[in-house]
Amino acid sequence: MCSLIDIYVMKTYEIVSKVSVYTMSELPEADRQLVEAAMEATATSYAPYSLFKVGAAARLANGTVCRGSNQENASYPLALCAERTCLFAANANHPDQPVVALAIAARNAQNEFLTQPIPPCGACRQVILEVEDRYKQPIRILLYGTEGVHVVDTIKTLLPLQFVADNMK
Ligand code: THU
Repeated sequence: MCSLIDIYVMKTYEIVSKVSVYTMSELPEADRQLVEAAMEATATSYAPYSLFKVGAAARLANGTVCRGSNQENASYPLALCAERTCLFAANANHPDQPVVALAIAARNAQNEFLTQPIPPCGACRQVILEVEDRYKQPIRILLYGTEGVHVVDTIKTLLPLQFVADNMK
């Protein structure tokens, strides 16, 4: 049975996101090293409230790797995710270097790496998008889980219908 919405819709379109899953050993060397840097970065997390330790590592065009981790606060909403800590540090210290890849890893309250990766939160997706847009450089995203590394070639795969500066023209 058709609803009124089906009858009057002008058109519909589908948005498809493809994510590739690799084992660590299948990953190219540079990607594997970046994932390992993100895993190590979980050790610098300051997460006394959530006990959820997130690490991120960004590879820049010149090969430099910058790390970040989530930083929490007694005033809870002030916490900053690992992805944004990492990207803001990378851009602040190397403003002339596009980010080419970003890896993310997380450990739970028991200090174990998660079997399934965590995708970046919505706010981080928007910030990653801005970095892509700023440098006109897609960022390969590597999401680590013990059962596989989920990989996309641009944040646009995880953030369809993006809002960027051009939308305001
Ligand atoms: N967190 C991140 O660092 N990255 C994400 O993508 C999701 C959440 C942090 C924020 C907070 O410190 C803790 O994880 C629990 O939400």
